[in-house]
Amino acid sequence: MTKFVINGKETNSEQPGDTPLLWVIREELGLTGTKFGCGIAQCGACTVHVNGNPVRSCSTPVSAVAGKKITTIEGLSPSGDHPLQKAWVAKQVPQCGYCQSGQIMQAAALLAKNKSPTREQIVTHMNGNICRCGTYNRIVAAIQQAAKEA
Ligand code: FES
Ligand code: FES
Repeated sequence: MTKFVINGKETNSEQPGDTPLLWVIREELGLTGTKFGCGIAQCGACTVHVNGNPVRSCSTPVSAVAGKKITTIEGLSPSGDHPLQKAWVAKQVPQCGYCQSGQIMQAAALLAKNKSPTREQIVTHMNGNICRCGTYNRIVAAIQQAAKEA
């Protein structure tokens, strides 16, 4: 059994310690906002925060988060009004939407540490999050807008 806090709530996982955190989040806890893309830490669709840092949950064994604080897209803002979520709507960022919760979680980790990132810093930070629909320009624009409001 692994104990951790997810979205502010103390939680236990009954799964073996080598179970990917992504499957604990999606299947055991029913939080399906976090997506499975590649399964090998190459796309970012499964990004969550562990103690405030962006982590690829598909490649993180649940045993590695024992005693830690996890935040998923469902817990980023209790009412869905994080500045990034508002900017995402205003800029109409998503196309199919599949990659977008991972994109927002990756971006949120940046803004938590750097309130006014340059365009270059944004591009560098977001570089490993793949969008098959090519929404990259809107993602950067939304992060810039959210940074102004944060
Ligand atoms: S599903 Fe985890 S990085 Fe692609
Ligand atoms: S919006 Fe479709 S993969 Fe990014």
